[in-house]
Formats: sequence, C-alpha cells, structure tokens
Amino acid sequence: MEIVSTVDELRARVRAWKQAGQRVGVVPTMGALHAGHLSLVQAARARADRVVTTVFVNPIQFDNADDLTTYPRTLEADARLLADAGVDVLYAPTAAQMYPPGFATRITVSGVSEGLCGGARPGHFDGVATVVCKLLMQTLADSAFFGEKDFQQVQVVRRMVADLDLPVEIVTCPTKREPDGLALSSRNRRLTAEQRQAALALPRTLEACARDIAAGADVAHALARATARLAAAGFDPVDYVELRAETDLRPLDAMPATTTRARLLAAAWLGTVRLIDGMPVPPPA
Ligand code: PAF
Repeated sequence: MEIVSTVDELRARVRAWKQAGQRVGVVPTMGALHAGHLSLVQAARARADRVVTTVFVNPIQFDNADDLTTYPRTLEADARLLADAGVDVLYAPTAAQMYPPGFATRITVSGVSEGLCGGARPGHFDGVATVVCKLLMQTLADSAFFGEKDFQQVQVVRRMVADLDLPVEIVTCPTKREPDGLALSSRNRRLTAEQRQAALALPRTLEACARDIAAGADVAHALARATARLAAAGFDPVDYVELRAETDLRPLDAMPATTTRARLLAAAWLGTVRLIDGMPVPPPA
C-alpha cells in the first residue's frame, strides 16, 4: 500500500488505474480505524478494482474545540490495518493542504442536515459536505462507502451527490457492533471502563424502544421513555431520541402505514464523549 498526501500524487495513481479500465472505490474516514471501517474497505474491495482510503481529521466539521483536540489520531496503526485489508492507496492530506490560505467555500445541504446532529452541532454537516465533496473530487472514485451508523451524514452526502450531479455511487454498509451491542465508533476508545459499561444502555434502549413502537406503542411516549432510560443510565445530556423516515429524515410522530421505512436515531453524551446510534423500526406486523 502506498501512502500519499497530495492531490497530484493521488490523481496520478487514480489516472493510471482508470486508463487500465479499473474501477475505483473510496472509503473516507477520520482515522482511528476499527472493524466498522474495515467492513467498508471489504465492501469497496468487493465492488471496485482499486481502493483508496482517506484519513483526514476534518477540522471544519468539529463544532467543539476539545472534541477536535482529543479526537484520536493513530495514523501508523491505521496504515498497518489498511495495508493488511488490501487497500491500494492511503490518502492522508494535512489540514493546510485541504484548506490552504484563502479557502472560502462551504457546501450547505439544507433539509436533511437540519435537526438531529445538525441541530446539536451547528455547522457540522456543512463541514462534512464540504470535505466529502473535496475527497470525491480529489479521488474521482466511481463509488464511495459510508457506514449507516452516521445515518444523517449518509442522507446529507446522498442529497449533495444528487444535487451536484457528482458522478459517484454512494454505497452504505450496516453498523458494526461489539459483541455486547455497542456500535463501533472511534470515540469509544475515549470512554472510561465505567462509561463503557453505561454506554450499553444506548443500543439496549433503542432496541427496546423500536420493539415497543413496532408493537404499537404511542411514539411520543416511547421516545420519552427511551430518553428517561438513557438519562437514568448516566447519559447527560441526551441530545435527541427521534423517529424519522429513512428516505428524507422527516420526523414521524406515528409509525407510517405505508411502505415508508422508519428509523430511531439518538445521540447522547457520557462525560465528554458524544455517542450516536440508530436502528430501523420494523413495520407493524
Ligand atoms: O464519518 C466520518 O468519519 C467523517 O464524517 C467523514 C465522512 C470521513 C468526513 O470527514
């Protein structure tokens, strides 16, 4: 695996692959890689001839300076994992390369970026959309791979790609979980042992809430009960627990009678660590 840090180096590799008729997949990441990222790499390898993984801790998507400073940076270990996983090129630009002096463009995707994490983290999705657009343009990949855990992010990226006619296929992969159910996240490594135990309440509460709603429980009551359970488990604050339509993220105050698929989405803090998770709610039997 080669490691490159400039667009010119990256494009030279991609150009040669494309001239040889090969399809290119990209897995955008912020590093601190775990099995969830590696499942995206596997999906990319199954669909593309060549795989680029990007590792870039994108400063403009952080609304909180501490979160940016403490975000785990483990490039050497990441590179080893990616090489073992069969990645062709690791693209790891610096912040100065991505955002040189004078950089003045932001992409705003309205609608799907509003509320949920967009409400709790002002500017976050502008930062995500801007960097993902740059990474897609820099790699000129045929397909790009994202995890469903960041469900709102996926909808933002899909909307942007459709609206800007970007010639790339967006592929999503299911959330990877620890054996006890906690969704894999680079932020999990910042949890203390006690917080790690408390964190289990997040998937368990969402599972119970999804079951209750699927069984016909009143949605507002089920969401309020889930919020209270998370607070009782030590999450403070609970940014949101909401039921949304999977396609356009519109809020649902009841289970849709139609074929619309519904998803529970939640974000909550344990100390200084913000965790997010989500689960589909099966349609009523
Ligand atoms: O999901 C992430 O790791 C980041 O938001 C992404 C898509 C790599 C953009 O910085």
